[in-house]
Parts: sequence; C-alpha cells; structure tokens
Amino acid sequence: MEVKSPKGTMDILPPESERWRQVVEAGVSLFRTYGYGEIIIPVMEHTEVFARGIGEGTDIVRKEMFTFEDKGGRSLTLRPEATAGVVRAFVQHRLDRAGLPVKLYYRGPMFRHERPQAGRYRQFTQLGVELMGSPLPSADAEVILLCREFFSRLGISTVLVLNSVGDPRCRPSYVEALRDYLRGREGELCADCRRRLRENPLRVLDCKERACIAAVSGAPELGDFICDACREHFREVEELLRVAEVDFRRDGRLVRGLDYYTRTVFEFQDPSLGAQNALAAGGRYDDLVEEMGGKSTPAVGFSIGLERVMNAGPRLDDEKAEGVYVVAIGDEARRKAFALVKDIRAMGVRADLDHLGRSPTAQMREADRGGFRYALILGEDEMAGGYYTLRDLAEGSQRRLEEDAMWEALREVGSPPQ
Ligand code: HAM
Repeated sequence: MEVKSPKGTMDILPPESERWRQVVEAGVSLFRTYGYGEIIIPVMEHTEVFARGIGEGTDIVRKEMFTFEDKGGRSLTLRPEATAGVVRAFVQHRLDRAGLPVKLYYRGPMFRHERPQAGRYRQFTQLGVELMGSPLPSADAEVILLCREFFSRLGISTVLVLNSVGDPRCRPSYVEALRDYLRGREGELCADCRRRLRENPLRVLDCKERACIAAVSGAPELGDFICDACREHFREVEELLRVAEVDFRRDGRLVRGLDYYTRTVFEFQDPSLGAQNALAAGGRYDDLVEEMGGKSTPAVGFSIGLERVMNAGPRLDDEKAEGVYVVAIGDEARRKAFALVKDIRAMGVRADLDHLGRSPTAQMREADRGGFRYALILGEDEMAGGYYTLRDLAEGSQRRLEEDAMWEALREVGSPPQ
C-alpha cells in the first residue's frame, strides 16, 4: 500500500489547520452579517444535475468530473462545484415558498479531475454564497461587495474583473461573431479549442494555453453585442460599485468556464499568481432554477477557493498561548490531576495532562510545546502541603495557591478556546 494521499489532494495539519479555521470563520461570520444562512448539501449528486447545470460543453463536465455508478446502476458525481447542487435543493424543497430572496452560504470540498499544479487541486475547498430571487443590479453589486469585504478583512489585495455575458437571447449573435473570427485562426488554436470552436466557442476565451490566449487577443468583445436591457443592467451594477467606491476593471472577454451564467460575471484575481489567479469567482444565473425544473428565479453568487486564499497569505491573529497544563508527580498526584483536568475543562478552559508517564521536566516541556500559558504543578511538596503551584510560562513567575485561590486564578487566567 502506498502511504500517500491521492494525487491532487492534501492533508491540512495543525497548526496550519488552525489558520484554515480562522479563515473559514472570518467568511462565515461575514456571510451571517449579510443575512445568509448555511445550506449543507451532499458532496455527490446525480450526474445530470451537473451535466444540465454546468453545461455539457464545459471542460468540467466533459473531462473533470469524478463520476461513478452506484450499486443500482445510477450515475453519481462528486460535486465539482456547489451552485448546481444548491439550485437542485432550492427546487426540491421549494425554498421560494417561504419568500424571496433566499440567501444561502456553503463551505466544503469540491472535486475536479484536473492536472494538479500550484493553486489547482483535485479536491479543493470552497466557501460561497447564493442570493436567490432578485433580478436587480443591486443584488449583483452587494454580492460583489461581500466578496471584496472578505478579502479586505484578511488583508489580501485582489483585482476585481467584471463583464456581462448577456443572456441566451442576445448572446448567440456574439457567439457567431466569435466563431467567424476564430475560424480564421483555427490553425493557431490548441486541439481542445479546435473542438470548442465547433461545440462551444465561448470556452475558447478561457483557455489557458499561451497560443490560444494570443489568438483571442483581437477577438470581438461580448460587451459590444449584448442587448440594451443587459447593457443597462450591467451599467447599473458598475454604477453601484462606483458609488460604493469599489475599484474594478472591465474585461470584455471574461466569460467564465460554466454555462449557466447570464449578465454579470466577475473574478477576484491575484495578479501576482500565474494562470490560476482567481481567488474567487461568480456571477448571475437567471435561468438555472427554471432549467432545473423550478419556477423562474433570478440568482447571483460566488465561490471563494480556500486553498488559493491560504496561499495568498491571509492576515490572521497570532496564536496566543492559552490554557493550563497540569504537571503531576507521583501516582496519587496523577489521579488528582486526572480529576482536576476534567473540572478545569468543564469551566471551558483549555487543559491537558500527561498520558505517557513522563518525568516532571518532560511534562513541563510538553506544556511549552502544546502552547499552554500556565502549568499547574502537583508535586510532592504540593500534595503534602495541600496547595498548588501555578506557573506563568510566558512570564516565568509562579504562585503558591490554596484550593479556592487556585480555582479563582484559573477562572481569571483561563481563556476558553476560540
Ligand atoms: P469556479 O470559477 O469554477 O466557480 O470556482 C470558484 C473558485 O474556486 C475559483 O476562483 C478558485 O479560487 C477555486 N477553484 C476552482 N477550481 C479549483 C481547483 N481545481 N483547485 C483549487 N481551487 C479551485 C464556481 O465554482 C461557481 N460555482 C461560482 C459561483 C457561485 N457562481 C455563482 N455562484
């Protein structure tokens, strides 16, 4: 057996996992401030949820899904993203009946069978929100503001790139113009893009191959083709962002790799990264709920890629030493320490003790290694004299305390784990 996690997956160990927890909590608390409630959906769905939702012609559906048959012969897929599953749940539970808008957030692992490289994994984690039920530009602008606020709280600088991809009524004229343009450059395109040119030319615009990027650099821009209603909607989104003093750059060729988008699409990019430079991305998808069998419900949302956020170096609180490690010398003291740790933990104070039969010196070392602020010492003198020694490991000072004073001190010094 190979003792190694599968390709494109990784383990996140302490203390790094502590930094992850802080980032997730920063996101969750922000989403709650904006009125979002958590939705927890399965990590797998019937394959058609993604095929229909994300689009048969997308790279995700064509080549990146982890799909398998269950024992009953139904095709299931590990979710490559969460929006399609959220919409499936929205339709299944008729969430619109309790009134719109419905604001949902989620977090969890996503799975795409991609070629792993820096910032691209086969299992990765997203934090995301979906705002269901509003067609108005203010919903787009608010969702974008929320995403930007997440990055600014973590001290991560990003560039917001925006575009409008129009809607299924006005987009076809652009697709034809793009196809005409690309036909003249077919020889310069990669094999995948030559296929995309026939099946789904928009997808050529987000190919990461250098030759394809060069080939599309002079392509017509979607923004010049969208209808007046879409143009007006987008203008208002931009206006609201200006009013809110949000900097952005418009990129007329930003189309995103999923077929469900209508009108606004956006990415928060870290320009210092290479090809995988989107830390978060999203957009509006006004037709997806209906395509999944629900009532027509406009919606907009985004997802943040947590691994990329961690790589970008979020600004987090330093870990402070906290809690108390009980150092016991002798069998009787160990028994007493065992009961004591239970009672200290019951107060909500982080506490631990030795389970390896170590010497007092080794126990003190363990208190240090475990990041404890205090050591509560139960040695021979303490047992005989009926008192405790509380050592402040940060300051190097110590106090001798009777039972009541010891509990009083622990109540004061112990900060519950965050
Ligand atoms: P997406 O652009 O496919 O959109 O993914 C969103 C973010 O997930 C990316 O910007 C990136 O940070 C991260 N991500 C994607 N693939 C990988 C990977 N292989 N390894 C590491 N990170 C990755 C969506 O998933 C849409 N559901 C966003 C959305 C929500 N649109 C509307 N609502």
